[in-house]
Amino acid sequence: MNKNIAVFASGRGSNFLAIAKEIKKGRLKCRLALLVCDNPEAAVISKAKNMGIKVILESNEAKIAGYIKKEKVHLIILAGFMRVLSKEFIRKHKNRIINIHPSLLPSFKGRQGIKDALDYGVRITGVTVHFVDELIDHGPIILQEAVKIDMFDTIRSLEEKIHQIEHGIYPKAIKLFLDGKLSLKGRRIRISH
Ligand code: GRF
Repeated sequence: MNKNIAVFASGRGSNFLAIAKEIKKGRLKCRLALLVCDNPEAAVISKAKNMGIKVILESNEAKIAGYIKKEKVHLIILAGFMRVLSKEFIRKHKNRIINIHPSLLPSFKGRQGIKDALDYGVRITGVTVHFVDELIDHGPIILQEAVKIDMFDTIRSLEEKIHQIEHGIYPKAIKLFLDGKLSLKGRRIRISH
């Protein structure tokens, strides 16, 4: 039987949509049981509703944990979720929460990863998918992909390039997880084929 996944998002939801589409096309074999959103204004809500996906508008973590349990969620996918999860929640779902960050971690952690990389002047930035641990933007790295910054890039154009990469790399990482291809040794993740 297909495993249940939940996406947590607070904003636009382009990653949510990319994941939902891969599932719909049958390329990602799982059931998108829930969208958890903590922001009533978020555009992601209508995206989920249009696709017939159950939306939980909730910011209370204990209540969120209740839904996760009730729906037997196997994997929690953070996609622009602006709330920091508690250590208890993370411990309870150890190695079952993943996040996408718009830089090559450990560089440019935090909320403005794209802008910070551009302002710093690095020539290469990128995207990281990682397990969530108790520190911010810190857990073991599943996949990374580089994005070149050229001198004509603006925050807009760089965001565009980064998002393009995100929509490919996130479904890929989710598939590896669901297929049981990831094994952890300390911080290092081995991908089996
Ligand atoms: C993405 O850039 C992701 O890396 C970051 O938040 C953004 C979410 O974008 N964590 P969207 O809501 O999926 O469009």
